[in-house]
Amino acid sequence: MGALDGTVAAVTGASSGIGEATARALAAEGATLALLARRVDRLEALAADLGGDTSVHAVDLSDPEAAVAAVGEVVERHGRLDVLVNNAGYGSLAPARGSDLADWRATTAINLDGLLAASHAALEPLVAAASGPRGVADLVNVSSDAGRRVMAVGAVYSATKHAVGAFSGSLRQELAPVHVRVGVVEPGITRTELPDKGDGDTPDLDALGELGVLEASDIADAVVWMVTRPARVAVDEMLVRPTEQR
Ligand SMILES: NC(=O)c1ccc[n+]([C@@H]2O[C@H](COP(=O)([O-])OP(=O)(O)OC[C@H]3O[C@@H](n4cnc5c(N)ncnc54)[C@H](OP(=O)(O)O)[C@@H]3O)[C@@H](O)[C@H]2O)c1
Repeated sequence: MGALDGTVAAVTGASSGIGEATARALAAEGATLALLARRVDRLEALAADLGGDTSVHAVDLSDPEAAVAAVGEVVERHGRLDVLVNNAGYGSLAPARGSDLADWRATTAINLDGLLAASHAALEPLVAAASGPRGVADLVNVSSDAGRRVMAVGAVYSATKHAVGAFSGSLRQELAPVHVRVGVVEPGITRTELPDKGDGDTPDLDALGELGVLEASDIADAVVWMVTRPARVAVDEMLVRPTEQR
């Protein structure tokens, strides 16, 4: 018996890194998974691994209308939505000077607009699921330790992640009476494809020791812990950093 037997969980950005690890971990607890991202080949391979009624939804979540349609497709396909993990994201630690405005806009489009659109589409399905046997539903937003502090780099990335924290904190209060738990997970530096995509002060993961970088599964563990608490327990925020990260 898994803690999430009979539930449906959607994970955005499930084609790599933290999203893929989270999808695997939620499935191990018995959830039926809906996988969302652009790289459909990766999603298909993961769905084949997970088996069951796993569904694949190819979508560019930086397009809000597409994000809304994809979440609608998940609910239509599975008939319910108990857990939404808004994980898809992108960010560069390049200095603001010399960077393209287009890159700033791409960052806000996925990290904020996409997350808001997916959340908007999920609100009523989550409220409906909360009145089921589990007694709660869960919205988990993946932010960053850059959503808790600012550095001299990554200004736009940090701005989007701070906004995710504000959105989540307010929504948590609004949805508490209808038993939809809203949690934020804030990873520190984690070994995924993301650091490769950045530039500027992107850390060299190979130069970090074993205690200097998290694995994607460490963040998946945090998400699963959050959504498998008893119905009376809402974990609002988890800041998870590698031991050696200052
Ligand atoms: N790695 C870290 O050190 C770290 C630290 C703090 C926070 N985070 C956060 O963790 C989350 C996951 O990142 P990760 O580290 O696992 O990186 P990753 O391996 O690059 O994964 C990012 C995921 O987001 C998806 N994605 C990006 N843009 C998308 C779009 N326009 N539409 C749909 N999906 C999109 C990607 O899928 P497709 O490319 O297939 O679309 C991919 O599955 C992000 O929100 C990131 O900000 C990461």
